[in-house]
Amino acid sequence: MKLLAAFSLLVSSKLTLATFPSCRCVYGDKCWPSATQFTQLESKLSQPLIYPRPSGAVCYPTSNPSGNCSGLVDTWTDGNWRADQPGAMEAPNFETYAFKNGTIDACYANVTLGVPCGQGSVPVIGVDARGVADIQAAVQFAVKYDVRLVVKNTGHDYLGRSAARGAFVVWTHNMKNITYNASFVPQGAPSHETYNAITLGAGVQWHEAYAAANAQGRIMVGGASAGGSVGAAGGWVLGGGHSALSPTYGLGVDNVVEMTVVLSTGEYLTVNSHQHPDLFWAMRGGGGGTYGILTSVTYRTYPSLPVQAALFSANATNPTVMNTLMTELMRIHPALSDAGWSGYGSASNSSLFFAYMKPNGTVAQLNESFHSFVVFAQNLTSQGLSIVTKPVYEDTWYEFYSTYLSGGVENGGNTMLGSRLIPRETLEKNSKELTNILLPINLSWNFVAGGKVSKIDPNSAGVNPAWRKAIIHLTFGIAWPFGASSQEIDGMIDILKAKEKALRDLTPESGAYFNEASLYEENWQYTFFGTHYPALKAIKDKYDPHGLFVVAEGVGSEDWDSDLNCRKWW
Ligand SMILES: Cc1cc2nc3c(=O)[nH]c(=O)nc-3n(C[C@H](O)[C@H](O)[C@H](O)COP(=O)(O)OP(=O)(O)OC[C@H]3O[C@@H](n4cnc5c(N)ncnc54)[C@H](O)[C@@H]3O)c2cc1C
Ligand SMILES: *[C@@H]1O[C@H](CO)[C@@H](O)[C@H](O)[C@H]1NC(C)=O
Ligand SMILES: *[C@@H]1O[C@H](CO)[C@@H](O)[C@H](O)[C@H]1NC(C)=O
Ligand SMILES: *[C@@H]1O[C@H](CO)[C@@H](O)[C@H](O)[C@H]1NC(C)=O
Ligand SMILES: *[C@@H]1O[C@H](CO)[C@@H](O)[C@H](O)[C@H]1NC(C)=O
Ligand SMILES: *[C@@H]1O[C@H](CO)[C@@H](O)[C@H](O)[C@H]1NC(C)=O
Ligand SMILES: *[C@@H]1O[C@H](CO)[C@@H](O)[C@H](O)[C@H]1NC(C)=O
Ligand SMILES: *[C@@H]1O[C@H](CO)[C@@H](O)[C@H](O)[C@H]1NC(C)=O
Ligand SMILES: *[C@@H]1O[C@H](CO)[C@@H](O)[C@H](O)[C@H]1NC(C)=O
Ligand SMILES: *[C@@H]1O[C@H](CO)[C@@H](O)[C@H](O)[C@H]1NC(C)=O
Ligand SMILES: *[C@@H]1O[C@H](CO)[C@@H](O)[C@H](O)[C@H]1NC(C)=O
Ligand SMILES: *[C@@H]1O[C@H](CO)[C@@H](O)[C@H](O)[C@H]1NC(C)=O
Repeated sequence: MKLLAAFSLLVSSKLTLATFPSCRCVYGDKCWPSATQFTQLESKLSQPLIYPRPSGAVCYPTSNPSGNCSGLVDTWTDGNWRADQPGAMEAPNFETYAFKNGTIDACYANVTLGVPCGQGSVPVIGVDARGVADIQAAVQFAVKYDVRLVVKNTGHDYLGRSAARGAFVVWTHNMKNITYNASFVPQGAPSHETYNAITLGAGVQWHEAYAAANAQGRIMVGGASAGGSVGAAGGWVLGGGHSALSPTYGLGVDNVVEMTVVLSTGEYLTVNSHQHPDLFWAMRGGGGGTYGILTSVTYRTYPSLPVQAALFSANATNPTVMNTLMTELMRIHPALSDAGWSGYGSASNSSLFFAYMKPNGTVAQLNESFHSFVVFAQNLTSQGLSIVTKPVYEDTWYEFYSTYLSGGVENGGNTMLGSRLIPRETLEKNSKELTNILLPINLSWNFVAGGKVSKIDPNSAGVNPAWRKAIIHLTFGIAWPFGASSQEIDGMIDILKAKEKALRDLTPESGAYFNEASLYEENWQYTFFGTHYPALKAIKDKYDPHGLFVVAEGVGSEDWDSDLNCRKWW
């Protein structure tokens, strides 16, 4: 009796009910908005609603494909082709959805696999945003009908944060405005506070931003990828943003002058160090899809620079020899960093490659920095190591970027990453242990920290303070064929977890980069945000009272279940 009374009290009290688990509406639920309600939304938008499809969907029905299925072979690996479609993710595994029973809902372009095309985790409907008003209408609709919302820009997120099963998507890709202003004054700033700056709409990609800056004889801190496909004013900057120019000018977040954003309340804010400085702080590293929808970013620009570069390639027949070489290369990174070098490298137990650069550098400085390493490598040639070194000088950084950092293809394959920010001390003292953990697998590293990144006050932006002590950000990945079973994929994930654990144990105080990391990071709050987490969470709760913006391992996501659809109440 007593229990029953308590129960009816519970269900009759609205206040108490609100604390019960409540789930966002997804496609197929009774509470999903009706066609009429979507039509009402559409009447407020500048563009028709969009109905995203997985990238392989044009191959179905198999008997009569709806599009250019055979042409997919040529475009599949092109990151810009993927970014151009609302339903395509950079890594197609994030277009799929694994049920608890292990069945994978996917749409494989390889029709021979005989799996019917499923929508997977690709959002079913959304808004092709062209301006602030479109985004405000979309956000207000999502709050009103309590639907699961996803923000997609290029779809490059390595944790699949730009997709969610049955979701409503705001696609920012077509927000392409670019404005250069040599004497930009932030809103609310005194008129003498000017910046040589460029303002990018949320959909601008790095290849577009770099070209626009170059047309003014300017450069900017930005990402590097095949074809420059990564977004310049979306997840990249919200999560930190690293660049080969970061050791010279700081991280992406260190170069932001102003941002504009639409909140879940529908408010449109201009944030900078004078207006809403707390939100400005949090949005510089607190993560994409978390605080609101960024509509533009204003970045500092710099005069163009010449670049001296060092290209190095080595192949080994004996893994022990490669281990010796890699250990030495890791060990000298603090010295290379102090001498002004940065860049990218990759290695396996049989090969190693790096392309490093120094703005304004000379060939004499190159020799000074790398001479002893090359001698060290030459000494290993008697043990089957082959090496090729190539000095490269370009009159402009843009030329160097265009020739050496934007080529190749993105893979369009199933991928997940693991990563770690490697501090100076580890490289100096534990390069052997580090190499022993890494070389059995293939890895890449981004020599994009140190220098200016270390000199900036770690508390000046929300980004992980671990960046300030790191020299390199290294990544490794797993990959699997289309059609692989959940068990096979889980086996690969176990390898990823084991490597992550080994690196965590070696560098317990450090962390990892929110944007290039794994879904299986333990204690991700510390790993991605360090001591900034509590402040980032408080700012999240203040500016997103609806908790509308939720992404995997994002600030506040611990309040949600594993699908990020239902609020936890325990
Ligand atoms: C090939 C490749 C190369 C890369 N190179 C670099 C590099 O050089 N440096 C580097 O730092 N990183 C690099 N990255 C990682 C990159 O920073 C992340 O993939 C980042 O998430 C991409 O952001 P996006 O906006 O392009 O992609 P999306 O996947 O569309 O978005 C990423 C996340 O941000 C959110 N988001 C996007 N736009 C907005 C917005 N307007 N408002 C609010 N939230 C938004 C999305 O919801 C999602 O959670 C690379 C990734 C790839 C795949
Ligand atoms: C199909 O795609 C290929 C490669 O992109 C292209 O060459 C071809 O013209 C396309 N065919 C049609 C009918 O669009
Ligand atoms: C697994 O669950 C999904 C969703 O409920 C269902 O469609 C599928 O048939 C199930 N698979 C198996 C093998 O039971
Ligand atoms: C497509 O799948 C079939 C069946 O698994 C496989 O034999 C074939 O190699 C795959 N084709 C491609 C291009 O991957
Ligand atoms: C883009 O620029 C054009 C021309 O300056 C302007 O009319 C438009 O409002 C801008 N759009 C956005 C979304 O800022
Ligand atoms: C640049 O910004 C200044 C200060 O806000 C403004 O007065 C000027 O009109 C802007 N110039 C351009 C080209 O937009
Ligand atoms: C690792 O790299 C080596 C050499 O570049 C290559 O032969 C091998 O296939 C790669 N292994 C994986 C798992 O990618
Ligand atoms: C490069 O050299 C120019 C000209 O001497 C100088 O103004 C600039 O500060 C230098 N930049 C860097 C990053 O060293
Ligand atoms: C390169 O540096 C080494 C050691 O500092 C020096 O011995 C050598 O002469 C230099 N070579 C050139 C070409 O400057
Ligand atoms: C060259 O390698 C040998 C071992 O193979 C080592 O004893 C020697 O110290 C090395 N010399 C240099 C200059 O590194
Ligand atoms: C190492 O092997 C790769 C791939 O075969 C090749 O491109 C590269 O030139 C080789 N480097 C050396 C130093 O032999
Ligand atoms: C070298 O790497 C490959 C994977 O690319 C792996 O299969 C092999 O076991 C490794 N060999 C050694 C000696 O670590």
